[in-house]
Amino acid sequence: MTIQFSLSKQSPESAAVPCIVVGVFEEGLLTAAAARIDEKSAGAIKRLIVSGDVSGKLGSTNVLFAVTGVAAARVLVVGLGEQKKFDAARFKRTCGDAARALKSLPLDSAVSYLTEVEVSGADTAWKVRAAAVATDAQVYKYTATFKPREQSRTPEFVALAFAAADTAAAALTEAAAIAAGVRFARELGNLPPNICSPAYIAEQAQKLAADHPGVACEILEEADMRKLGMGALLGVSQGSAFAPKLIVLQWRGATEADKPYALVGKGITFDTGGISIKPSAGMEEMKFDMCGGAGVLGAFLAAVKLKLKLNLVCVVPAAENMPGSKAQRPSDVVTTMSGQTVEVLNTDAEGRLILCDALTFVQKYNPQIIIDAATLTGACVVALGKHATGLMSKDDALANDLLAAGETALDRAWRLPLWDDYQSQLDTGYADIANIGGKYGGAITAGCFLSRFTEGFRWAHLDIAGTAWEEGRKGSATGRPVAMLVQYLLDRAN
Ligand code: BES
Ligand code: MN
Ligand code: ZN
Repeated sequence: MTIQFSLSKQSPESAAVPCIVVGVFEEGLLTAAAARIDEKSAGAIKRLIVSGDVSGKLGSTNVLFAVTGVAAARVLVVGLGEQKKFDAARFKRTCGDAARALKSLPLDSAVSYLTEVEVSGADTAWKVRAAAVATDAQVYKYTATFKPREQSRTPEFVALAFAAADTAAAALTEAAAIAAGVRFARELGNLPPNICSPAYIAEQAQKLAADHPGVACEILEEADMRKLGMGALLGVSQGSAFAPKLIVLQWRGATEADKPYALVGKGITFDTGGISIKPSAGMEEMKFDMCGGAGVLGAFLAAVKLKLKLNLVCVVPAAENMPGSKAQRPSDVVTTMSGQTVEVLNTDAEGRLILCDALTFVQKYNPQIIIDAATLTGACVVALGKHATGLMSKDDALANDLLAAGETALDRAWRLPLWDDYQSQLDTGYADIANIGGKYGGAITAGCFLSRFTEGFRWAHLDIAGTAWEEGRKGSATGRPVAMLVQYLLDRAN
């Protein structure tokens, strides 16, 4: 189900729609729209605050029906929490709360006045964009492989207008592109690995190119990889019955002389660990191990929809990491496309192996910036938990730009050091480099491994192992880091 967004200039009491959305703070303080409704209805909201029915607490929602003096059939009152704690993150959260409440109601459209609530440091355009992206994230539902249990009601929630002037129209265009990119990434992430194979991802990339003029797509096959000497990528893939694919998408939004921005994403469609096999408990979550690839494809899609005035190249090495008689062994030594040899001491450290060849490959496009995204290490989840993406780069300016983009898009990262001090953890007596770095600093040593393949380029690595999906039976891909990457590109294009 997709949702249509628009802007509304109607006053809260006169919007003749199935529902309007207004905010109330925990202190019983009304936002301007709530105060207006309260005034027109001779105190309908304040009465409910006094009685305790409306608390204004963060996460709370109440629906008022047939409020006198109000044209809308319903008033959804959203709790905003303490006023002094209300910030950008809470704004996004309450927009999501409102969306969840709206989709549970039998209505097709609503007008939200949350975009009028003051958020420090944010203008209307930001609020409209953030509200639309947050709403779309709540409305998205994975249904590709089952019949939804709830009979879909008519009418269905399909349209939301935000109270804002026409000047915010560009923000809605951006929101629609970001939301489409996030959905694209989430759907690929959520699909099971028997369907979402390397070939399937390649097909989706080809479809993306066919649907969007100006996009070129090339799929490199196993034989091409062999010719290029991608021994690390091939080593990971050789245990699988699925053929690996190297997906290349290009967007020309600037002159040919403009060096492209390069996005590279880990596309392991299932990570069993290979011969260094993972424990069964939780292994199903390793279907999400292609979320870096899906994320860069989603960001690419959004950039194309926005026709960003820059050049972009997107590379996704897609493969499956399986055990079996053809699988690579711990102690195998592979030769990478860069010429460096790698001792595979743990076949479960496969992400860096497919990425190193993709990072070498992408250099032929002479990119001005390379950013990779990967569900690379459990160690990153231990270090940062599931809220922050791990950011590693030796380039302070690039790191700061990405951190700032994450703040703006509310898709945040936290930087970890990539000091050379860690590099010796990758030493081995049998190859130029080992694929694991021992017990300590696992996220960083993985970053160090990748750094060996990006020498001379401005490069940053995003470890999204903790942020790419939510855990559990009903856990779903989040679409991160699409919003951060699109923001980064928007900031560069403007
Ligand atoms: N895909 C995993 C990383 C991962 C683990 C992401 C758990 C999210 C949750 C990656 O391929 C992997 O297995 N990494 C190993 C590296 C180790 C063998 C050095 C890890 O983190 O345990
Ligand atoms: Mn692994
Ligand atoms: Zn993996």
